[in-house]
Amino acid sequence: MEMDFRKAVLPVMCLLMMVACKKTGGNGGANGGNGTGGTGTVNQDTVGTLKSAANSGFPFGLAIEYGLFKQNQAYAAVVKREASVVTFGYQMKHGAIVKDDGSFDFSSADELLALCNNAGLEVYGHTLVWHQNQNGNYLRSLTVGNTQQVAIAIDSAMSRFIRASMMRYAGKVKAWDVVNEPMMDGNSGLRTNTGTTTGDAFYWSQYLGRGYALKAFQYAKAADPNALLFINEYNLEYNPAKLDSLISYVNELKAQGAKIDGIGTQMHISINTPLSGIDNAFKKLAATGLKVRVSELDVRVNPNDVTGFVAGKTALEAQASMYKYVLNAYIQNVPQPQRYGFMVWGIADSDSWIITSQKKTDAPLLFDNSYGKKPAFYSLLSGFKGK
Ligand code: XIL
Repeated sequence: MEMDFRKAVLPVMCLLMMVACKKTGGNGGANGGNGTGGTGTVNQDTVGTLKSAANSGFPFGLAIEYGLFKQNQAYAAVVKREASVVTFGYQMKHGAIVKDDGSFDFSSADELLALCNNAGLEVYGHTLVWHQNQNGNYLRSLTVGNTQQVAIAIDSAMSRFIRASMMRYAGKVKAWDVVNEPMMDGNSGLRTNTGTTTGDAFYWSQYLGRGYALKAFQYAKAADPNALLFINEYNLEYNPAKLDSLISYVNELKAQGAKIDGIGTQMHISINTPLSGIDNAFKKLAATGLKVRVSELDVRVNPNDVTGFVAGKTALEAQASMYKYVLNAYIQNVPQPQRYGFMVWGIADSDSWIITSQKKTDAPLLFDNSYGKKPAFYSLLSGFKGK
């Protein structure tokens, strides 16, 4: 009986192992093309975690949402198991903290920070100066009076918010996105949108001019001299002109004395994102000599917005390859001392901002709607283990 079992099963096992090795081996290295296969679906590591696989290099992180982390046990369990650092999707933003009268309410951010610290999670600060998720009622209320009065009021609103946030969390939050999304997509100039009714208005540059970011970095350095200060931007892999403008703006600010420690590349990308753009962005960011972090990675599988799209095997495997490609490209192009971290923007597909905020039909993350590991998870894990 025993002999029969061996005879029947061993050859099959050997064959399976050979297939598995071949699969993982061909899984899109940084210069290996955008292979869609090879996500390790046979040879899956079901116990490894991203944070332990990433441990000896740079931290792996996840963006979290307050309500879900607090109330959804499955969600919180994944975060604690996989991440060593988290970013709050909303709770540290201007709109979450500043009330209509300009006073501050840090209660939710405090609560979430305590929950994270108790769970041994580092918290990355996001974000101090942005054009969205801000209290438009309050900022609009400051725009009355002559130009000089308004500029003083906006300047003071910016400095108060930066100081209050950074001083409150000094020692607990060790790095911050000080300025988020400073460049325009279309002309790659400085962001100037003035949509006061939609709330998507960049008051800071509108009323303080090009120098608003220098001020922001100066206030940030004064508030917590030990914190690392970042500028964070999207579409850098997709829009080379925007990448170049961002880098010249960073150089300009540094020449004026701003303490900028690093650049975050958000990387809200898709399975169709050109790989050359990814390499180019990492190369140019690395050439600044600053720290570089992948700050908000997600990979859309339905970038053309096909109605009723359901992600099938091919799409999920293309996504898996893309996640791993980004990791490999980061490792290959950014020298070790400059690597500050690799963060994915959300946990389960259905919690993603692409679905909740942008109302898209997609599945951009590492976990399915039941918090099960997707091919992208296994692919990224094998990438971390191979680094
Ligand atoms: C998103 C959050 O995930 C949502 O919870 C929030 O409602 C809107 O913002 N770029 C950024 C992030 O820098 O702050 C955005 O996060 C996603 C795009």
